[in-house]
Amino acid sequence: MEPLRPVRVPGKVILLGEHAVVYGQPALAAPLDRHVTVRMEPAEALTFATLPATGAAALQEAMERVCDELGRPRVALHLESELPLSAGLGSSAAIAVAIVRALAQAQAIPLTLEEELRLAERMEETFHGRPSGIDHTTCAVGRPIRFLKGPPASFTPLDVSKLELVVAVAGPRDGNTRQKVMSLRAAWEQDRAAYDARFAAIGRLVDEGAALLASGDLPGLGRVFDANHAALQALGLSTAALDGLCERMRAAGAYGAKFTGAGGGGACIALHPEPEALVAALAAQGTRAFVARWKGKT
Ligand code: PMV
Repeated sequence: MEPLRPVRVPGKVILLGEHAVVYGQPALAAPLDRHVTVRMEPAEALTFATLPATGAAALQEAMERVCDELGRPRVALHLESELPLSAGLGSSAAIAVAIVRALAQAQAIPLTLEEELRLAERMEETFHGRPSGIDHTTCAVGRPIRFLKGPPASFTPLDVSKLELVVAVAGPRDGNTRQKVMSLRAAWEQDRAAYDARFAAIGRLVDEGAALLASGDLPGLGRVFDANHAALQALGLSTAALDGLCERMRAAGAYGAKFTGAGGGGACIALHPEPEALVAALAAQGTRAFVARWKGKT
């Protein structure tokens, strides 16, 4: 038997377009240089030996959904995550992709990207209900993308020559992604035309942002972050903690800031001329933050 190699999958950050993406609008997302790692060792049966802090039952249930197709290799899985849990930074999606890759590797099953995405999606459905697919696609592809839910889901790689983004954690969420997506859906059911128009406006911001990103216009992209945050806020998805964190980052010189992911808490992202200085300023205020970097053509 081949040695069992560790599987490392990056987390992700949604740059623009969360929630509207569920309704068919485009969204931009990029992998993070923070990973989920699955290590394996031979065992009597397929088991989880080490798990991140929470979610053991959901994880077991999610894995069961792919075992009928991928089988049950006799390995113990050790799962480690460098990603804050439930912060909208893709920890569940990265875990789903990593488990699919680990189960396949342990049995020498070759998987195409399409198969990987389909299986990871089945796991993500346990965590998120009916996700758009942007999270696990970004984690599996491992490069910045413009994503469309479809069906069929599709993505195009983004031309990001150099980007530094400050990611800051505002605090725990007041609900999970599934709850946020469901409550927005209930509002959409009441007045589809009005909500579709708001989602279309977010879609236009996403494409404006993609052009500004490609041309390296960070102040312009920052203004689009602000506008996307305001649109999400108007949909009732932000919180005082997220708004306050974005305000603090703007007051500290950010070109713009928004929350990222499902909302109701979690993380914010900002563009700043000196990202490390912003991280230091946030640390002095007791806020956990780091710089995410991308460089080179993708
Ligand atoms: O799980 P999160 O916080 O990354 O949010 C996922 C993004 C949403 O657009 C809110 C939902 C989805 O499935 O696209």
